[in-house]
Amino acid sequence: MDNLIAPLGAFSHLDEANRLRLQDGLHEAAEALETPYDMMIRLLNAGRQTAMLKIGYDLEIFTTLTSREEPFSVDELASGKSADPLLMSRVLRFLAANRFITETDKNLFTGNKSTKGLSDPRIQGGLLHAFHISVPAYQALPEYLQENKYQNTTGGRCAWHKSANTDLEFFPWAKQNPEILKYFQQLMSIPREGSWLDVMPFEDESNDATDRKLFVDIGGNIGHQCARLLAKHPNLAGRVVLQDLEETIRRAPEVNGVDFMVHDFFTKQPVKGAKFYYLRAILHDWEDDKSVEILKQIIPAMSEDSQILIDDLALPNTGVHWWSTCIDMQMYIMHGAMERTVDQWYALLDKAGLKVKEIKTYSPVMRNSVIVAVPK
Ligand SMILES: C[S@@+](CC[C@H](N)C(=O)[O-])C[C@H]1O[C@@H](n2cnc3c(N)ncnc32)[C@H](O)[C@@H]1O
Repeated sequence: MDNLIAPLGAFSHLDEANRLRLQDGLHEAAEALETPYDMMIRLLNAGRQTAMLKIGYDLEIFTTLTSREEPFSVDELASGKSADPLLMSRVLRFLAANRFITETDKNLFTGNKSTKGLSDPRIQGGLLHAFHISVPAYQALPEYLQENKYQNTTGGRCAWHKSANTDLEFFPWAKQNPEILKYFQQLMSIPREGSWLDVMPFEDESNDATDRKLFVDIGGNIGHQCARLLAKHPNLAGRVVLQDLEETIRRAPEVNGVDFMVHDFFTKQPVKGAKFYYLRAILHDWEDDKSVEILKQIIPAMSEDSQILIDDLALPNTGVHWWSTCIDMQMYIMHGAMERTVDQWYALLDKAGLKVKEIKTYSPVMRNSVIVAVPK
């Protein structure tokens, strides 16, 4: 079996399309071997993994195991946390059986490729965000849908409000829960498949020597995309502006060449005549009416050559990948929002008084895309 599996590691650097096609094919092949009972226990186990990973983080198992080459004993791992060694051995056994760590001998454990990944603070943030926010919200979804008679509700109270027992929207709520906001920001800092910068010809802009505002990242969080833009195009002519809510801007680290600005995107865009107004992973958080409001706040600030760049999924009409369907449902449970198909983007922009100039897809499976929009 090892002879069959080990060589597959060599394919982990394939591009998105081939890597995911191979992974999905292998999952499908494994499922073909399952009995209905096998399927049930696989699904049942999947529902427990996030909680067990949270325990792994609380006990600092992943960072400890990756801190040295030699294996750690159960007693060593337990004593650092004053945990019962028997309980610790059971947690470790679960994590090893799920291949998150490796059992090397009786009561001895070490890190592996997955442990290294789990030790990355960005992956940790993503999983702890799932543990605290997404998983409880998904648990609340069946009852939420029963109560709402299976209507495609938009905005208002979502499954997440029910699970978190709040009437606040996620971002104001996260402001009062800084630990969660930190997890969210770590999650957001994970690079997506492909890069929007590969499909945007910014080189052209560097010849246009001017100190005009060139690029406004609206709802840009703590500035990862601005930093990536400037890292790729250090000689960009024109200023780069990062806008977000006050609590996020306050946490943003200094980035050379970026102007920071507190701005609520439901109010008039204060930066006039920028070449690009960039919205990454913003409109998928909002239902159509709110998305139209956000877009309409930008239009009066635009000059002749301004463009709105919407960096979001542009889904095909059929055959959507399971990860994109997952993100779509995430937008629904959190915000009553959705990932949109190409047809739905055309309709939304039309409603906002915009037209689609071009859709530049930079990841062929997930369909991350830059939708270039200009006033009609
Ligand atoms: C899903 S995140 C996307 C962040 C960033 N564009 C990215 O792709 O990494 C949504 C962002 O919108 C910001 N946001 C939410 N409501 C906002 C508002 N009313 N005005 C400005 N920013 C807002 C949040 O603080 C958060 O940084």
